[in-house]
Amino acid sequence: MDPLIEAALRVRENAFAPYSNFKVGAAVEAEDGRIFTGCNVENATYGLTICAERAALFHAISEGARRFKRMAVAADTGRLTPPCGACRQLLWEFCGDALVTLVNLAGQVEIIPVRDLLPRPFDDSFIR
Ligand code: THU
Repeated sequence: MDPLIEAALRVRENAFAPYSNFKVGAAVEAEDGRIFTGCNVENATYGLTICAERAALFHAISEGARRFKRMAVAADTGRLTPPCGACRQLLWEFCGDALVTLVNLAGQVEIIPVRDLLPRPFDDSFIR
């Protein structure tokens, strides 16, 4: 199996999701090949919840990675779970037009470029 998918499925098990019971795992592959993982971490205030995708990106950035090639997102849904709007914005800014692999526990896989998830994105090119 693709090690990126394996990593996303594995880290999903660590999700802290007592409010939604919706566990998500994400793994991002840096330009140098390193893989960093993240899971969703919920909070009693709900609004402070962090998604798996952003947790993975923040983990990677904390370890010094800056550019990324791919991300995998794993959830237990028949309809493959895509990143939320906030995560799409971060994906665009940190990963550019990377490929996002969606996967579920049945092993179904779909690969979507970030540009298809976030058409006409806002980014730093507008503020420079
Ligand atoms: N969630 C993610 O971590 N990633 C997604 O792509 C969709 C939603 C989390 C946030 C929250 O903890 C739970 O799933 C339900 O929305």
